[in-house]
Amino acid sequence: MKAILVTKQMITTSEYIEVRTSLIHGSGIYAKKDIPKETRIIEYIGEKISRLKSELFDENPEKGIYLFELNKKYDLDGNVEYNTARFINHSCNPNCYVEIKNEEIWILSINEIKKGEELTYDYGFPLFNFLNYKCNCGTKKCVGYIVERDLWPKMFKKLIKMKKKNLVLSNK
Ligand SMILES: C[S@@+](CC[C@H](N)C(=O)[O-])C[C@H]1O[C@@H](n2cnc3c(N)ncnc32)[C@H](O)[C@@H]1O
Ligand SMILES: [Zn+2]
Repeated sequence: MKAILVTKQMITTSEYIEVRTSLIHGSGIYAKKDIPKETRIIEYIGEKISRLKSELFDENPEKGIYLFELNKKYDLDGNVEYNTARFINHSCNPNCYVEIKNEEIWILSINEIKKGEELTYDYGFPLFNFLNYKCNCGTKKCVGYIVERDLWPKMFKKLIKMKKKNLVLSNK
């Protein structure tokens, strides 16, 4: 892992990436050069916190977005300025995935990523309050909400039910 020294903290970087304004949301991470398949691109670092502390984030979903489970006792809170990987946005058709091994979190490419492409991974959000998390990934596969892929069938069922309810209401 390469790093640049600023004040007391090391800001992570990688030969493969740069931070730029994203078409999806705010800032994003883009490929500075072609990235081969299955490459460890950048480590996702942050503050190791007890699960007891991170459970408090349940009341603040925005904070929870940056949390990863390290083990039974600890989570990692990536919401720190030295963690460049925190800028990676979600996509319904991502080109990266997250690997957690031996308490280290890495972002890896799924397939070859071409220079200039934005890096994304599946945030793996649950269905709880999914209507609050609209997806703007812009891919052909976008399902409209930031929801873990495995939960899409359940989400579609819920959306159909909701639409039916709206129809009943609008017919009254
Ligand atoms: C970990 S940050 C990602 C970096 C963010 N773009 C920024 O500038 O700080 C997560 C936040 O980015 C936004 N975001 C990420 N992926 C998104 C997507 N596919 N559609 C809409 N918003 C997204 C959401 O607001 C989410 O809370
Ligand atoms: Zn999407």
